[in-house]
Parts: sequence; C-alpha cells; structure tokens
Amino acid sequence: MTALEAFIEKLDALARDATAAFESATTAEELEQARVEFLGARQGRLKAIQKGMGRLDRSERPAAGKKLNEVKRQIDSAFQAARAALGKEQAGPAVRSPFDPTLPGDRPRLGHVHPITQTIEVLKEIMGRLGFSVAEGPEIEDEWHNFEALNIPAAHPARDPLENFYIDAGPSQRAERCHETADRSQDGDLLSDFYRATAEARAGAPLLLRSQTSTVQIRVMEQTAPPIRIISLGRVYRPDTADATHYPLFHQMEGLLVDRQVTMADLKSVLRMFATSYLGEDVHVRFRPSFFPFTEPSVEADFWWNDEWVEFGGAGMVDPNVLRAVGYDPETVSGFAFGLGVERLCMRRHQITDIREFYRNDVRFLRQF
Ligand code: PHE
Repeated sequence: MTALEAFIEKLDALARDATAAFESATTAEELEQARVEFLGARQGRLKAIQKGMGRLDRSERPAAGKKLNEVKRQIDSAFQAARAALGKEQAGPAVRSPFDPTLPGDRPRLGHVHPITQTIEVLKEIMGRLGFSVAEGPEIEDEWHNFEALNIPAAHPARDPLENFYIDAGPSQRAERCHETADRSQDGDLLSDFYRATAEARAGAPLLLRSQTSTVQIRVMEQTAPPIRIISLGRVYRPDTADATHYPLFHQMEGLLVDRQVTMADLKSVLRMFATSYLGEDVHVRFRPSFFPFTEPSVEADFWWNDEWVEFGGAGMVDPNVLRAVGYDPETVSGFAFGLGVERLCMRRHQITDIREFYRNDVRFLRQF
C-alpha cells in the first residue's frame, strides 16, 4: 500500500466514523461534541489527518488534497443533515407554544334571564306601547292596601288568616313602617294630606305578604291625581299547596286606567290589543260575569287561542267605593282594572305544564328559554 493509498483509506474511515457519530447523536450537545471531534479546527481528527499530508511525496499531494477536500465536504454535509434531522425533532416540542389559539376552546356558559323575568319584560314593553307606565309597590303590605281600600271588609273570607301570609311583626315595627310610608308622601302632592291621615289611622294594623297586585292600584291612586294609566308587575303570595297549577308565590300583572268616561269597551280593547301583541295573532276576548269586591261590574277575561277559550284573569270597572277610598270622586272619574297571572301567560306561550318548574331552579329546564 502506498502512502497515498493509506492516507486515502484513513480519510474514508474517518468519513464513515464521522457520519455514524453524527447520526447517533440524539441531542444538540452530542452532535456538537461529535462535530468538534471530527471537524474541530485545532484538535479535530480531520485536522490531524490533514497534518499528515506533509509526510506524503510532493507528487502525491494534489491527489491527497483533492481527496481531503472531498471528505471534508462529505463530513460537513453529514453534519448538516444530522443537525437538520435533530432540529426537526427537537424544534417540534421546543418551539410549540403550550397555548394554541387556533383550537376551538371551551365556551364559558353564559347565564341568562329567567323565563318569568323575560315574560315580565315583554309585558312591560307591550303595555308601554299602549301608554301604560310601570308602578311598583311593597310585597309586605298592610290590610288597608291589600283589603280595606279595595272594598274587602273585615268579615270577608279572603281575609281569613288561613288564606294569607300574615307577618308576625310587633306593634312598634308596624307603626314605624306606616309612618315611614306617610313621610314619603309628604313632598307636595295634592293627596298627601289625605294619604297621611289614612296612614296614621292604619298605624298598628297587621301586616301580610300581599295576596294580589291590586294593592298597587290603591298606592298609586293615593299619591296621584287622575288621569292614571299604569301597570304593576310583581310577586304575590297565597298559602296554596304547590301542584301543577298552584304555587304559594306567583306573579301578577295589574293594570289600572282611570280617567273621565272610561268604559268596559275601553277595557276590552286594551285586553284585546294586549293579547294580540303577546300571542302574535288576532286574539278574541270574551268576558264572563264574575265578582271582585273592588270592581263593579266584574268579569273573567278569556282569550280565544289555539281553538279554545283560555282563562287569563279578572277585570272590571273600578268600584266607586275604591275611588272614594283614595279620595277620588266617582261622579267625575271612572276606570277599569285587570289582574293577570304572569306564570299562566308564560306557560301558555311555551307549553309549560307545571308551574313548579319555574321555582325548582333546574338549569336544564331554565336553559331552554
Ligand atoms: N286581584 C284579582 C285577583 O288576584 C284580579 C283582579 C284585578 C280582578 C283587577 C279585577 C281587577 O284575582
């Protein structure tokens, strides 16, 4: 073997070793170590072989130099290939962000408005368009607003303690509350003297959870001179055993219009326009004779809907005794009033068959609306 042949063999062996070392490197550090071992500018094995070139015969040197350059390129490209392969593997996990903004992600579940509240909003909107503004009253009431002023005398069965949630409040608390309401009425409206007088007379009277929103009729008329055009929406309470159509708490919409020369025809038109707006089709209204102490005449209003008459609530012309109780003159003004069950309207519209669903707070039910 000539010296040149031996030189070339050494270079080929080095190329094999280097390629193997680069390919077996599993980390960037290992690869770098291998690079220094073979290609290192001072201590590298290629450099060591190159140094041996000086011992070759002059005539052999061009061929040796050519081979050296070839092998150097070979080892270089083996190194580049190994680095690229390693880079791809490691670049993946090392570069990938733990947060991928292109993934769909979990949507936060938004809460939403309870179906009864939704219904109340719709009712306010419809009645607002008919010119009725919203009035409110307290849920804890005295007997004057819940009964007496509404022409419901002491002996009336509706006042039975078993039919109402009376509140066990001491006499001083009761008096305090009544004076509070009296004070609030002092700021300069026409009826405040009358209101204060009746409030004082009531001090010490028992309190109860209101059993109807008709209380608000009285509160508004006590404080405002006619004409009046209001609705009032809110909770009422009755000690009923809960079943599919009863619940001890429910919501009513009260309507009251007082002006000169108001008639039953006005009542019927308003109810019909209301029902047509709420139910979205031309709805007929039927009146059946009924009785309420605070209206005369009194009716039950039915709506013709889905081929049947559906009962929607009580109504009538405000009884002259009620007008007198709030200091109005029944000879100059008249009015109509109505009271509808909000749950019933909502149930009809959404085909809900059990009133208790509204109050179970089962999100699987509530989420549907
Ligand atoms: N307050 C009555 C009830 O709760 C309904 C009603 C209101 C009737 C207004 C006539 C006028 O049943």
